[in-house]
Amino acid sequence: MSIELLTDDNIALAAKLLDSGDIVALPTETVYGLAADSYNEKAIAKIFAVKGRPLFNPLISHVADLEMANKFAIFCNKAEKLAQKFWPGPLTLVLPVRDDTKISSLARAGLPSVAIRNPHGVIAKLSNMLERPLVAPSANRSGFLSPTTAQAVYEDLGSKIPLIIDGGACKVGVESTVIKINEEGEAFLLRAGGLAVEDIEDCLQQKLKAITVQKAIEAPGMLVSHYSPNKAIRINATSVNEGELLLAFGKSRISGFEKAAYCLNLSPSGDLVEAASNLFDYLHKLDNLKGDKVIAVEPISNEGLGQAINDRLQRAAAPKD
Ligand code: TXA
Ligand code: MG
Repeated sequence: MSIELLTDDNIALAAKLLDSGDIVALPTETVYGLAADSYNEKAIAKIFAVKGRPLFNPLISHVADLEMANKFAIFCNKAEKLAQKFWPGPLTLVLPVRDDTKISSLARAGLPSVAIRNPHGVIAKLSNMLERPLVAPSANRSGFLSPTTAQAVYEDLGSKIPLIIDGGACKVGVESTVIKINEEGEAFLLRAGGLAVEDIEDCLQQKLKAITVQKAIEAPGMLVSHYSPNKAIRINATSVNEGELLLAFGKSRISGFEKAAYCLNLSPSGDLVEAASNLFDYLHKLDNLKGDKVIAVEPISNEGLGQAINDRLQRAAAPKD
């Protein structure tokens, strides 16, 4: 296993490994993904094994562009509009899959839909080189934090994967927003993420529907205690207890902050985009500190990317199953 820089030679090496059925960790603008050839069942099975991911939880297929996406998923007008406006970017569309698809049904967990995304950067380039989609869940053990640096991938999965491409820290820092559009043209928010819900609603000129329990079962990545660090987390803290670790946000501090053993501020200026980009990295850093300390998190506004940040924090704080 090795960590290699994002150079043409290493991209060629990644292409070779992927083409021969191996898995490679790659940076995207959201988080690092663990990629495999979407046509290759054995390669996809490796992803599930390495992550310890339940087989009923489907993967996202990453494409080079909208033209490639169209070969695998059926785009209604609304889906087309979203893709035109936000791709490449942190938006995943769950759409009806085409009957003749070569994307493995293992990747889709046997569902009649496919989650598809055109990301920025090297994974789109590799998809273009191999002329097929690449599946890639976040490059972490199932149920643990998503990695936003090559180092975080290495710490979680290092010994189990042949190659990690280091493209620096991920700009967005939380996973893509997942939207499902059904055959009736109804749009559902399955996962808040790196693209603000308000921007999607503006583009569609309609409100997104809240996910029902049934829909949640369709996206079991929404398991309540997903994204758990090892340490206990206390969200929306209004004061700090002696010796706690503080994950702060914005200019003003909650009471008792001087009692914190250590403090990281997601965004001293209160910028939610900056906070999202730091979220997993800072949770990793606090989680890696010695001792059985509690992480207290200051309240974070629920607007824009704040919705995705609060969603991840709630999952991280939920009791482990
Ligand atoms: O930003 C991201 O989305 C990252 C990067 C690597 O692209 N990927 C990522 O993948 O977060 P993953 O596997 O950790 O999360 C994908 C989510 C899961 O909640 C999964 O259940 C859901 O998408 N999903 C995938 N296919 C689906 C489908 N056909 N129907 C409903 N949900 C689906
Ligand atoms: Mg994940």
